[in-house]
Amino acid sequence: MAHPVLTDEQKRSFHRDGFIVVKNAASDALVEAARARIRSAERGENLGSTKEMLDLVNASSVTSILNDAMGEFDPPSACQVGVLKKVQPGERYNNLGYVDRDMPYYGAELHMDGNITIASPQEVQQGSPDEIYRRHFASGPSGDLGRSAAVMGHNMTPMFQDPQMTLGLGSFTAFVFVCLNDQMQPGCGQTSLLKGGHHATEKFFRWQFESNGHLGPEGPGWPRLNYDAPNRCGMNYLPDAIHDQFTDDDSLATPDGRRWPQPVQILMQPGDACIAMYHIPHSGSRNENGSESRKNIIFRIRNKKRQPGKTLTGLSDHPDRGWKGEFLEYEDGNDPWARSKYAMCNMWDEWQGMQHIVLQEQKSQ
Ligand SMILES: [Fe+2]
Repeated sequence: MAHPVLTDEQKRSFHRDGFIVVKNAASDALVEAARARIRSAERGENLGSTKEMLDLVNASSVTSILNDAMGEFDPPSACQVGVLKKVQPGERYNNLGYVDRDMPYYGAELHMDGNITIASPQEVQQGSPDEIYRRHFASGPSGDLGRSAAVMGHNMTPMFQDPQMTLGLGSFTAFVFVCLNDQMQPGCGQTSLLKGGHHATEKFFRWQFESNGHLGPEGPGWPRLNYDAPNRCGMNYLPDAIHDQFTDDDSLATPDGRRWPQPVQILMQPGDACIAMYHIPHSGSRNENGSESRKNIIFRIRNKKRQPGKTLTGLSDHPDRGWKGEFLEYEDGNDPWARSKYAMCNMWDEWQGMQHIVLQEQKSQ
């Protein structure tokens, strides 16, 4: 069996853009098996641990490509089955606190992974920012715990990773999005990525770390909530420093005049896989034009060297904690929060097979 790897040219483009589309990474047989399994699913059945989904990484070219470019990782035992039904722009407030139909770029809500989300209030919020903050996080699945690392979101992500509340994001190494339907026309629910945004997020993390060691939301320059959003309780999914860097006069705006970064819609055919940096701002998008539901199977992969003693499933965006937020045991001298902060500030450190490209690219800048 062949073990495909990325060419140096592909690695250079991955370094520059933060993602790469690998054509035909999964064979027709793997794609057909996964599609058939989705067709035969019972209503509400979670397919994330089925062989048909997992084989899209475990039995496809993705494993050898990642082993070469990144390093060792646990074969996924779970994944996110990203099925987006066809919809038209809606009237509800999205997680950013804006009405869905007002958002440009097919409703993309660019974010970094590993961030807590509590369902967006559907009425305009009243009171002071402190009152809105308190009410919002008390409305999540953990109830009213105040500001605490024990608070979990509706997306099953903790408010802070560490008990000291100095790390507001979970982290891993690579995203893999395996496409199971034709997504060559924009507006079919494509995964949307902020091209080159990984360089900006790493730089921002470094600045946060140098400022006071706190990374992510509620660290320097990154308030968690946007009280100026139309519902007065939007998630600040990206800090202003990154938002502003990727907007200009050509960016589309919401009715309040706020301009939004334009992501790239990843156009793929069945069997294609997009590999992206964990660091890249990304989002799903509205499936307005598709002839069927958007089907991307999503894996979150972490280089084994971060925590060799832990086995990861391939689903979690906060693998330093248990899926439900449990605190895990680590041996003496192993500080998982420090390791993850280091990885967030040094994004290529976990890509062993990219080192020669990183050096070349840094020299040529
Ligand atoms: Fe995400």
